[in-house]
Amino acid sequence: MKHMSRKTLILPAVISAAVIASASVIAREPFTAEELARQDAARLELVEQGYALWHGSKPSMSSNGLACGNCHPDTTASNPQTFPKYIASVRRVVQFGEMVNWCIENPQGGKALDLGSKEMTALYAYAMNMHNGIPISPGLATEQTKSIPAKYGKGFPSKPSGIGNDTR
Ligand code: HEC
Repeated sequence: MKHMSRKTLILPAVISAAVIASASVIAREPFTAEELARQDAARLELVEQGYALWHGSKPSMSSNGLACGNCHPDTTASNPQTFPKYIASVRRVVQFGEMVNWCIENPQGGKALDLGSKEMTALYAYAMNMHNGIPISPGLATEQTKSIPAKYGKGFPSKPSGIGNDTR
């Protein structure tokens, strides 16, 4: 802190001012249907990668042969849209990726992913794609097996396994 120059302090302010000033310059028309389609295709590409990872495509994520899909078929009980939230067993508020890493390290005995990695984003993209628009209450750990209807996001080609829909 002592050797932080004035320049160090002023620079962020100058950059923010420049960003604000340029905002009006870069304002643009709404995205076209074609652009939106391209963006969604990019998202679905990640969803595909997430699907593969969820079903064991990365060996370092597991040392015992278990993959996410064994316990969270069709992403059930992963409740991605409820994060960040308090997790009783971890005793603090965590983000989705931290719970993913908890499952990689504990039930799967694997090596955690970098929270900012493309792989973590892919797992999140797949889980969110499956929960698109579905309200699921943030449950207690004791409610993890509660029935959650798995809904398939538009455009993702794989068929539901149906295992995740218990009929409680
Ligand atoms: C052996 C079974 C098992 C495997 C394999 C497993 N999980 Fe879990 N997962 C659990 C259990 C049990 C919990 C509840 C933990 C708790 O609340 O303390 C959980 C909780 C979660 C949660 C938090 C859900 C919530 O609403 O609190 C997420 C997200 C999650 N798992 C994702 C994953 C992902 C992604 C993988 C694969 C990398 C994975 N899990 C692999 C059993 C498993």
